[in-house]
Amino acid sequence: MKRSAGLAGAFVLILLSPALAGNPQKGKEIYETTCIPCHGPEGNAIIPGVPSFAKDEAIPGKGIKLSELSDEEVKRNISRGFKNPSTPGAPIMPPFGGGPPLSDGELEDLIAYIRSLAK
Ligand code: HEC
Repeated sequence: MKRSAGLAGAFVLILLSPALAGNPQKGKEIYETTCIPCHGPEGNAIIPGVPSFAKDEAIPGKGIKLSELSDEEVKRNISRGFKNPSTPGAPIMPPFGGGPPLSDGELEDLIAYIRSLAK
């Protein structure tokens, strides 16, 4: 009896965990409407100063990688917009990439997607 309850608990956790970690498939849809003009298809940025997620970049001029930043940090930078003061020549990323405001869950989906692009 006890054992089957444990198994059921584990099963619930497995069902919930993708939702908690963000759904990259949903993130892809947001990425392709809002982020693609600057960050490029599959994260292959083609505009100078825009980080390439395919190369795991966050702030390329400082050698900072996306995989080194926490989800909280990346969420904040996407929501507030981002301008790295050490690269004055680079373009500015507007809040939410200039798109409509995103919920916490949508940001998690997006982050799961952009993290999946690194090769
Ligand atoms: C108008 C062009 C533009 C759009 C649209 C855009 N970005 Fe950016 N993004 C940039 C630029 C430019 C930088 C780098 C700014 C710098 O380094 O000063 C950047 C940086 C970033 C970074 C790295 C910041 C960090 O945390 O260190 C992330 C993550 C990011 N963008 C995610 C996104 C997501 C997700 C979207 C879609 C919601 C998006 N961007 C849409 C231009 C854009």
